[in-house]
Amino acid sequence: MASRNASQEPLRALLLLNIRQLVTLRSRTGKPGPRRGAELGELGIIKDGAVLCLGGKIVSVSKTKDALADPWIKKNRKSIIEIDCGGQVVLPGFVDSHTHPVFVNPRLVDFEKRIAGATYAQIAQAGGGIRSSVDNVRKAARNQLAESILARLREMAAQGTTTVEAKSGYGLSLEAELKSLEAIRDAATHWPGTVVSTLLGAHVVPKEFEGCRQEYVEVICNEMIPRAAKRKLAQFVDVFTEQGAFSSEETESMFDAAASCGLGIRAHVGQLSHTVLRPLLRFNVSSLDHLDHLSEDDIAQLAKRDTVATLVPGANYFLGLEKFPPARKLIDSGVAVALATDYNPGSSPTPSMPFVLSLACTHMKMSAEEAIIAATINGACALRLYHRKGSIEPGKDADLAIFELSDYREIPYWFASNHCAFVVMNGTSTAAD
Ligand code: NIG
Ligand code: FE
Repeated sequence: MASRNASQEPLRALLLLNIRQLVTLRSRTGKPGPRRGAELGELGIIKDGAVLCLGGKIVSVSKTKDALADPWIKKNRKSIIEIDCGGQVVLPGFVDSHTHPVFVNPRLVDFEKRIAGATYAQIAQAGGGIRSSVDNVRKAARNQLAESILARLREMAAQGTTTVEAKSGYGLSLEAELKSLEAIRDAATHWPGTVVSTLLGAHVVPKEFEGCRQEYVEVICNEMIPRAAKRKLAQFVDVFTEQGAFSSEETESMFDAAASCGLGIRAHVGQLSHTVLRPLLRFNVSSLDHLDHLSEDDIAQLAKRDTVATLVPGANYFLGLEKFPPARKLIDSGVAVALATDYNPGSSPTPSMPFVLSLACTHMKMSAEEAIIAATINGACALRLYHRKGSIEPGKDADLAIFELSDYREIPYWFASNHCAFVVMNGTSTAAD
């Protein structure tokens, strides 16, 4: 695999100037943690802004005229890489906190069956669904998987994403899940952005464990989780908690195993049917994702915590569902909400965060401001990366998305078209690509 991470030389200083709208998302209160309630309207916009990045970090954020008057910038101007962002909008790079990029083929038969009227659950029961992606992943060489993951990371970056959570989950054996995580790690070393890996051995029970599912749960708890943790191949463990996948009790035993190995915890819940959240919330859960089916008590429990509700409306769109996650109700109740693509071959084959923002505005009645915050700082919180990602503030990683637009509201407005001009990932700009 060819590296595009421009050697390991120290990064030169990078100065972005004349930014029409610099959407900083700086925190007014300085309080760490996800934004909720009225904070979801606060973008911290600087007009005619400038950002100076050095060594992969943001060092100053100001008006352009103040940057140009800065003594250090004046002294070092010749050695600084300058990018004129005249007329453009700059955001923190999107944090896509839920993706499944380790697969081989698109699932076109599932797609056709759904067009003909079958549901996601019916397709899975008839032998399609997640299990139909497993054979090819088991057969694939690690390098082949890594190449395709890298291509997918680049597609995401082309639309403004600079941090990606990447799950395994189509191997469903110790060997194939570890190979999937290794492939994620390989791809990540060739991409200037940031990748957070998640073990999703608990995606569904594989065919060979039909009739003895408890044995598969034991493989996950006693082999997959400890091995992935020991080799630092995963930062999180995820479980698909759903009828036809794993029960709440099974989920709790896997959460126990993850916690005892020092891994973070997240789960897919309430996608097809309701799961009571209280028992899961006795764990330190970073994020619960999908949440199409929720009770009043679930919402009240979430509102009390920093557990992020990650909504993935690309899946509702692609599955042709009429209903979307109840974002308004969650936000109005004080729950911390994030948005992610759920990029995967079965329910949401899109790398595009701008498209997800558009769906959030049109189908979930989120404002453009709420959608941007949900896709950046709250996504960072869902990955426990609050201190490094999700806003443009001194000390944070230099992750920026530059849009050829004059107003941030145009990001969700122009749906299904890409206005991202380039990104800066950990101080490396793709402007020259
Ligand atoms: O998040 N729900 C479980 N996992 C994916 C779908 C995976 C697949 O269908 O391949 C999701 O929608
Ligand atoms: Fe998912």
